[in-house]
This record gives sequence, structure tokens and C-alpha cells, in this order.
Amino acid sequence: MGKSVAEIDLALKVGVGCFNVESRSELIRIQQRAELAQKVAPISIRVNPDIDANTHPYISTGLKDSKFGVDANTALTLYSIAAKSKALSITGIDCHIGSQIASTGPLLEALQSILKIVDTLSDGGIELQHVNLGGGFGVRYQDEQALDLDAYGAQLHKLLGPRQLPLRVEPGRSLTANGGLLLTQVEYLKPGQEGATGFAVVDAAMNDLIRPSLYDAWHDIVVVDGVNPEDPMHRLDVVGPICESGDFLAKDRSLQLSEDSLLAVLSAGAYGMCLASNYNSRGRAAEVLVDGTKLECIRRRETIQDQLRLELP
Ligand SMILES: Cc1ncc(COP(=O)(O)O)c(C=O)c1O
Repeated sequence: MGKSVAEIDLALKVGVGCFNVESRSELIRIQQRAELAQKVAPISIRVNPDIDANTHPYISTGLKDSKFGVDANTALTLYSIAAKSKALSITGIDCHIGSQIASTGPLLEALQSILKIVDTLSDGGIELQHVNLGGGFGVRYQDEQALDLDAYGAQLHKLLGPRQLPLRVEPGRSLTANGGLLLTQVEYLKPGQEGATGFAVVDAAMNDLIRPSLYDAWHDIVVVDGVNPEDPMHRLDVVGPICESGDFLAKDRSLQLSEDSLLAVLSAGAYGMCLASNYNSRGRAAEVLVDGTKLECIRRRETIQDQLRLELP
């Protein structure tokens, strides 16, 4: 959402398949930029169907108080504006009601709302060429139910019935979340004060994986190396070296480890590196691709020179 003029111009230049439009102002801006470039912009309106995806508030995007999309009536108005414009061509309709959706119910409810709009548009002479239902397919981090994709597919097929309406989806984390992990080494073990939970201070931090700090997200932690059978079991928080109390990777875990143990923070393959930052001047981690028994460094560790490179004298 919030497409800038530069982004719209670039998308027009490269011939983007479709702009998913999130407001009236955005539609008008796309129209004006397309007129100026003497192009026709393909558009789809993102509808916010006001459906509770039963997920964390930060990753719930389809409720009426969310910043995303427009309500059904506004969508109809925007389609009628687009239908009158020579610089816009209507291609589809889309929605994305949130992330980590565990059951098909809210997704199917969203499709039903979308199909009502599709039919109203069709009655008014506007035929859409696709429906995009977004992503949000829940994955298992701890004990969550992963979305049953086969059941979802079958139910979508049933709901769409005889309509010849291509369906698009935007599977995000379901493709990669459980395919990646963050390796980190214990620097220090530190007891808590007056019997409080202690700490394993590790060399990774919220700048490497912000999900625990941002959403209180749970990631499994496994000790993969540097542990002896005689090491005691500790009850502790796994925290990073950053100057924030919110800098933690896990809270209140039982782990058998010692200083220098190597830990794997699991399910870090989505919203890990793409949300990483240089907070506290920390370089972003290297990335290693594991292909069977082959290892390949596909992104080197960031250095302080990398961070200083963009600063002006
Ligand atoms: C419009 C849209 N589609 C798809 C996704 C993917 O979501 P997820 O990774 O939870 O499946 C997102 C994530 O923010 C999104 O904003």
C-alpha cells in the first residue's frame, strides 16, 4: 500500500501485471501517472472484507479498522471510476485478510464477500479476469495447526463452482518459514537476580530476527553443538546484546547448554533476513544455503565498511 510516484512510474515502465489499489487517492494517482506516461495501468481493487482472521493483531489485515484495502461499497465506486478511465484497465479484485491463518473458514468467508462484489460488477457490465485471495496460510512454529492446503483447495473449488474465474494466491511464509534457521552462539550465561529467570546472552539479536520482539512470536531453540552431557539444564531467557529489554529470541526455556554452545533458532526462513536491520551498528548475518550435503554461502556477513559506505563525507 502507499505506492509512491516513483514506484508507480517504475511499475508502468516495466509493465506490471496489475496494481493492487488500496484507496481512492492511490487509484487517481495511478491514473494520472499512466496518462502522463501514455500507458494503460492494469488495476485490481484490494477489498477489506472485515473478517477476523483469528490471528495476532499485528498480522490481521482484513478488519475494518485496518489500514489495508477498502470496503465493498468503496470498491464498487472505485471500479466505476476505473471503468470510465482510458488510462486504467480493470483486471481483477484482491484481498489478504492476515497471516498465520489456521483454518479455512475466514479465507472462505473472504472469498464469499469477494464473489458478491464480482457478481455486482458483472451485473453492471464489468467482468473481472481474476480473483486474488492473498496469502496467510498458517505454518507451525510451536503447536499451531498448519493450514490444510488440500482442504482449502477443495473448498475453494467448490465455492467457485462453474465460474471461469482464474484464482491467484500469494503464499508467503508457508513456502519458506520452516526451511530456514538462525545459528547463534552463547556468549555468556548470567543468573537472574534473586532467583529470577537467568539469561543466555547470545551473539544474535532482535536485529537478526525481530519476530519474538515484535509479535512475541515463539521459535523453537535447539542446542546443536558445544554441549557436554554433564552440563546442567538451565531455565532461562535467550537474549541478544542490543540495548533493549525487548531484545530476546526466547523467554523462559529449559535448555541444557554452556557458554559457547551453538544454538539453532528454528523456523527463521520467513520474516527473518528481510526484517533484519543494522540496529546498534550490527552487521547483518551471512546466509548459507544447504542443499543436501552441500553448503554454499549465498550472502556474506555484512561488515562495518558496508554500513559506512552510504554515509556522505
Ligand atoms: C498482500 C499480502 N499478500 C501475502 C502476504 C504473505 O503473508 P504470509 O507470509 O503470512 O502468507 C502478505 C504478507 O504481509 C501480504 O501483505
